Amino acid sequence: MANRSKTVGISRFRKHPAAIFVVMLLGLIITSGIYTVGATATNQLAKSSVDAAAIMNDPASIDAGKRLFATGCATCHGLDAQGNSDGPTLIGVGAASVHFQVSSGRMPMAAPGAQVMRKATQYTEEQTLQLAAYVASLSPGPEIPTAAQLNWAGADLGKGGELFRANCAQCHSFSGRGGALTEGKYAPTLMLATPQQIYEAMITGPQAMPIFNDQTLNVEEKQAVIAYIEFLKDSPNPGGFELGRYGPVAEGLFLWTVGIGALLLVAIWIGVKAK
Ligand code: HEC
Ligand code: HEC
Repeated sequence: MANRSKTVGISRFRKHPAAIFVVMLLGLIITSGIYTVGATATNQLAKSSVDAAAIMNDPASIDAGKRLFATGCATCHGLDAQGNSDGPTLIGVGAASVHFQVSSGRMPMAAPGAQVMRKATQYTEEQTLQLAAYVASLSPGPEIPTAAQLNWAGADLGKGGELFRANCAQCHSFSGRGGALTEGKYAPTLMLATPQQIYEAMITGPQAMPIFNDQTLNVEEKQAVIAYIEFLKDSPNPGGFELGRYGPVAEGLFLWTVGIGALLLVAIWIGVKAK
């Protein structure tokens, strides 16, 4: 008899009303894990397949950028990017400014307003770089940061925090989640910006933001600031229920797991009640 109760060990758990829930939840967690790994891998592939430096100096890419510019940007910035009454000249703004403005969806601007907003980008990374290559070919300006400049992995987080509080917090708030400025303008949250966009914002100073050139913040200090903002992204949100900063994959995953989990609970409850 003692023997029998041993072999029955697992099936005893199997009969527990929560067992099916546990098994299905495990299944969900495993599949969503595979999904996340797959999605991250393809994201990285898509990124690394576009070589910024090669596009900048490639005449065919510059030409492609010129054509994209004529259809998407020239109405406001002029056919030769010299500017007109609807938009400023882009002579000398540099590839970094174009990449920042277009990849963050600010450009093409939808309608004139108090402030150009971040929105979904309308161009692929390759097209964005072609536009940048074209504008940079007209006159030199701040260049797109290199992989080495963007390598913030070993940066000093403590120093980044100090630099952030001294140079950025007065507009973007201590949590990096943005704040109001004068005349209906605001400094946006930094939680949506990629490390590259953070670097580009610093070297191009969009709208009311000052430019942080290498004399103000050298490359190492910029990397420290980026490391600190990435740290803020991971730290608990000071208020509100905000999923947006985790990006579409994580959000989908969250809804999926929680949503299906809730449905499962209801199903089990109905099952148990029916008995
Ligand atoms: C509806 C008009 C409009 C369209 C279309 C438009 N822009 Fe702009 N753009 C503006 C205005 C206005 C500004 C100035 C906004 C500001 O910073 O206050 C601007 C600013 C910029 C800047 C920042 C310049 C700087 O000083 O750093 C860049 C770069 C830029 N635009 C690129 C583009 C590109 C590339 C396109 C096409 C994909 C485009 N824009 C389409 C109106 C437009
Ligand atoms: C004087 C106020 C001010 C200061 C100081 C300032 N910024 Fe900004 N920042 C702005 C404004 C205004 C914008 C929005 C510009 C726009 O929409 O064109 C902005 C935009 C940005 C963006 C783009 C966010 C996005 O997701 O689109 C980043 C990144 C950024 N700032 C980083 C920084 C960092 C890092 C520092 C410190 C080194 C800093 N800023 C200091 C005012 C400021």
